Amino acid sequence: MVSYKELGLVNTREMFAKAIKGGYAIPAFNFNNMEQLQAIISACVEVNSPVILQVSAGARKYANQTLLRYMAQGAVEYAKELNGGKGIPICLHLDHGNSFELCKSCIDMGFSSVMIDGSSLPYEENIALTKKVVEYAHQYDVTVEGELGVLAGVEDEVAAEVAHYTKPEEVIDFVTKTGVDSLAISIGTSHGANKFKPEQCTRNADGILVPPELRFDILAEIEKKLPGFPIVLHGASSVPQEYVKIINTHGGKLKDAVGIPEDQLRKAAKSAVCKINIDSDGRLAMTAAVRTVFTENPAEFDPRKYLGPARDELKKLYMHKCKDVLGSAGKA
Ligand code: G3H
Ligand code: 13P
Ligand code: ZN
Repeated sequence: MVSYKELGLVNTREMFAKAIKGGYAIPAFNFNNMEQLQAIISACVEVNSPVILQVSAGARKYANQTLLRYMAQGAVEYAKELNGGKGIPICLHLDHGNSFELCKSCIDMGFSSVMIDGSSLPYEENIALTKKVVEYAHQYDVTVEGELGVLAGVEDEVAAEVAHYTKPEEVIDFVTKTGVDSLAISIGTSHGANKFKPEQCTRNADGILVPPELRFDILAEIEKKLPGFPIVLHGASSVPQEYVKIINTHGGKLKDAVGIPEDQLRKAAKSAVCKINIDSDGRLAMTAAVRTVFTENPAEFDPRKYLGPARDELKKLYMHKCKDVLGSAGKA
């Protein structure tokens, strides 16, 4: 058993309390490799933002859970090195945990926060599983995110063909019975780079897809039921069309890619939404940069020459998210 406190990590409690009071959201960025982690940390140090490092099922399969945990420990030291010994608040979070055993293994190895995603289970089973994780996690002061409502989209381990919005009438009961520290809700976001079908969107003058608005009415009702309670938005990538265009003009094939407009995320961040999950935008930034290198220099074969520019683009993206979208810059 290793306590996250020994590793210099923090849980989400204070981060969220400050974010709700201050009208901003904490960035939750997924990482699978060194370049992504370097970009996240250097961006957040540069803009002085707290950060949540997320490890998904896909990341654990790709990179190994133990290795990622040690990388996060290294990130605490890296952040201190970058800003004169001070560092920034860093939380290591399990993204979409799907069993008690998995959450326990992460808690035991030093994660400071876990998500137990029982959203695809029947309501009572979701409550029972989430409660069990909370009871274990809270013994070690690890914070827990639960989920109510189902997001559309596909992830490695969490697939939902049909979305359904969070029912505001369930949230008080769920939060009270489980004891969760934060709640992920479904108000129209979804995972991946194709968040809406073209037929759900309109097109602007340039032919770009414009998605329907998020269900801010549901968010407002939830906030009314749970005043001051931390709400989480998954599937919150904006799918920047500049990246889609670069990818598609450099040999890629992304069709009808569309995300959540940044002004809507800004609006959400000013409310009870205090954690915003972003993964796909980072993938797009890296892919656009790598494709550009290979188009401009097909003879390149040193990974540092394409992963380096990918890392630089990623850092730029994350700084922009903290400063202009989530409002977390300057809040470390
Ligand atoms: O929640 C979804 C994240 O984008 C993680 O996806 O399981 O492919 O790493 P992944
Ligand atoms: P995106 O696919 O919109 O980046 O969502 C990521 C996410 O929710 C991770 O849990
Ligand atoms: Zn998610």
